[in-house]
Amino acid sequence: MSEHLLVEREPGLLTLRLNRPDKKNALTRAMYGGLAELLQQADQDASVRAVLLTGGAECFTSGNDLADFIQAPPTGPDSEVFRFMRALFDFSKPVVAAVSGPAVGIGTTLLMHCDLVYVSREALLKMPFVNLGLCPEFGSSLLLPRLLGQARAAELLLLGAPFDGEQAAAWGLANQVLADGAATLAKAREMALGFQHLAPSAVTDSKRLMRAPGREELRRVIEEEGALFGQRLRSAEAMEALTAFMQRRPADFSRFV
Ligand code: COA
Repeated sequence: MSEHLLVEREPGLLTLRLNRPDKKNALTRAMYGGLAELLQQADQDASVRAVLLTGGAECFTSGNDLADFIQAPPTGPDSEVFRFMRALFDFSKPVVAAVSGPAVGIGTTLLMHCDLVYVSREALLKMPFVNLGLCPEFGSSLLLPRLLGQARAAELLLLGAPFDGEQAAAWGLANQVLADGAATLAKAREMALGFQHLAPSAVTDSKRLMRAPGREELRRVIEEEGALFGQRLRSAEAMEALTAFMQRRPADFSRFV
């Protein structure tokens, strides 16, 4: 299991905490693999009634580790990141997210696969896929236009426009905005613990019903996005963007046609 994942167990609740503060909780292959495994185990474990996903009070996640994108890109459907996406997509119990600070890339897109999302006012959410020479992932090309309309989704997905916790809640991407990271974590934990008092199969049946419409289409879109994302990672455009991040300079796409 990755040293960058903290696992806490209390009655009815499994808390998965991303813990790589020096890299703003950037997700490595080992972290994705660990999350996938823990979610699969939790789905089979009757003592777990809900999962709380957090990066702590300061930072949710800066998204996929950009050095990994260059050195160890995902190679196909069995890669850790895709196993994580499938584990979250197929998870039958409630997932509650507590989001503070940056929530970049998959840090934002995964929220659409959680059931309850609490976000701090100063959270910074963005999906800079195109800015990195990439394309949307985890169903965001289908889910965001459906949720927000084409115009707003284009700002977020084509321009990579950032938004804060207030906007996330106003747009329905989050349940509630809270004053700071500590309050966000406390609220998310309180709501997640509440599931231990509910009838477990009534909860999972209801989650399944709520997520059933369009589910197979969404699964197909996630696969299509994943295949294109993998191709784009090997493109010269993405290489320019990733190298620019490492060199702390703006990307220059002027030579591309
Ligand atoms: N992958 C790898 N390292 C990352 C990272 C990522 N996704 N995001 C941040 N880091 C590293 C930085 O390189 C830096 O490392 P260093 O101290 O060794 O130089 C450290 O984390 C702190 O990041 P920094 O940029 O100085 O923090 P910040 O508070 O100014 O900004 C972010 C935070 C998250 C807004 C900014 O780091 C960022 O935009 N990161 C890239 C996010 C991204 O594009 N993710 C992929 C989406 S598909």
